[in-house]
Amino acid sequence: MSDFAKLYEEKKMTPQEMAKYVQSGDKIASTTAMGEPPKILDAICDRAMAEDLKDIKLYKLWMVPMGGRYTLPECEGHVDPVSLFAGGSEVRKMIGEGKADYIPSYLCQHPDIFRSIKPRIAVAMASPMDDSGYFSFSTAPLEGRTITEVADIVLLEVSPHMPRVFGDNMIHISQVTAFCESDTKPVEVPLTEPGENDIKIAEKIVERIPDGACIQFGIGKVPDAVGSLMKDKKDLGIHTELLCSSMLELIKAGAVNNSKKNINKGKSVFTFCGGTRELYDYIDNNPAVEGYQSTYINDPYVIAQNDNVMSINAALEIDIFGQVCSESIGPKKISGTGGQLDFVRGANMSKGGKSFIALHSTAKGGAISKIKATLTPGAHVTVPMSEVDMIVTEYGLAELKYKTASERAKAIISIAHPSVREELTFQAKQFGLMI
Ligand code: COA
Repeated sequence: MSDFAKLYEEKKMTPQEMAKYVQSGDKIASTTAMGEPPKILDAICDRAMAEDLKDIKLYKLWMVPMGGRYTLPECEGHVDPVSLFAGGSEVRKMIGEGKADYIPSYLCQHPDIFRSIKPRIAVAMASPMDDSGYFSFSTAPLEGRTITEVADIVLLEVSPHMPRVFGDNMIHISQVTAFCESDTKPVEVPLTEPGENDIKIAEKIVERIPDGACIQFGIGKVPDAVGSLMKDKKDLGIHTELLCSSMLELIKAGAVNNSKKNINKGKSVFTFCGGTRELYDYIDNNPAVEGYQSTYINDPYVIAQNDNVMSINAALEIDIFGQVCSESIGPKKISGTGGQLDFVRGANMSKGGKSFIALHSTAKGGAISKIKATLTPGAHVTVPMSEVDMIVTEYGLAELKYKTASERAKAIISIAHPSVREELTFQAKQFGLMI
């Protein structure tokens, strides 16, 4: 038996045995999104509730609904979530009710935030150990290596359904305190079906994306629609926070070869992956795909090393000054800053780069204009006006970069829903804008 195989047998436990490492007052950091280890987290919550352990804080990004026991009312005060993104419907609801907290942050900061939190325990999902004794953090390279470096105790949940992903994304069995085997499958995120307005918006973006561009897509229907219209492009590269199924469609169509990149040439690189099982199978053991921590992928100065970076993200509302809100409706938290500003900045600094913020002109069946004279009071600004490059709605594309405040307001009003343009123009004049 090899040393690694021996270590494997010594460190294998049940989730319930691993939960015994946890004490009252512990700070636990977890890998995120499709990389959440549900069996370990549920066992920790069960033990905390059964043995009345108190004030355990669970720090994690939260992107998608996972439905862990930490969301149960009876777990409150035992294990309390703290989100670094405020996504995922259950945790978002808890934040709205004052039952969970969040850390406002850019995604590029997350590993550093975990360093400052200094969790005593790190928990992570992982793909099975290879012959050299390494597990990969699979779909969640974002923070895996940092949280397992800074914590005293490292607990892994290892599943054969988790893809093995190369890059800065590995941990050796000698660095692991204990692990359990499980049959957990990564949550699947289906490709969205674009509506008529998503396609109209996507068309305006796609005509500005050259062959050879290096792409980043954010969350939502518009980024998916953009992907669906780019299959005839050539020599695209991928350097993205989220690796999603619309990107796989481009890879399958032969539009992506990463040949024009200046860094990570020949590789699609990402910091977390969320999509269909087909996407997870594609990234498994694939040398053309690498995962890195967000301190690398989302660093605007790293992003800008590639030419023609095209960043495409969605927003909830913008004002006529060009301030973008993508994470709240007034003070009500809907989402997080995530990597939106990281990629807007990186694209702005990239030679030939462009950043697109896309939104429908209205929400709630046309009842609410998403373009407003001023943001809803209490709104959290995601992209400040001086960073914004292009805003796109189904009515057109407003180029804001290096334009005056009055030129910006005029361009933004021209892409608002026609029914609100007169009122917005009136407001703009009240604010002293010369339009
Ligand atoms: N006022 C009131 N409600 C609004 C609204 C507004 N201005 N804008 C949107 N909504 C509602 C929608 O009607 C929808 O409600 P429903 O779920 O009841 O249908 C909901 O809010 C979500 O809006 P939608 O525009 O469909 O969201 P999306 O799925 O396209 O996601 C963001 C948009 C902005 C929330 C998402 O892109 C995000 O989280 N961004 C921040 C992080 C980021 O961009 N990271 C970048 C890299 S991954």
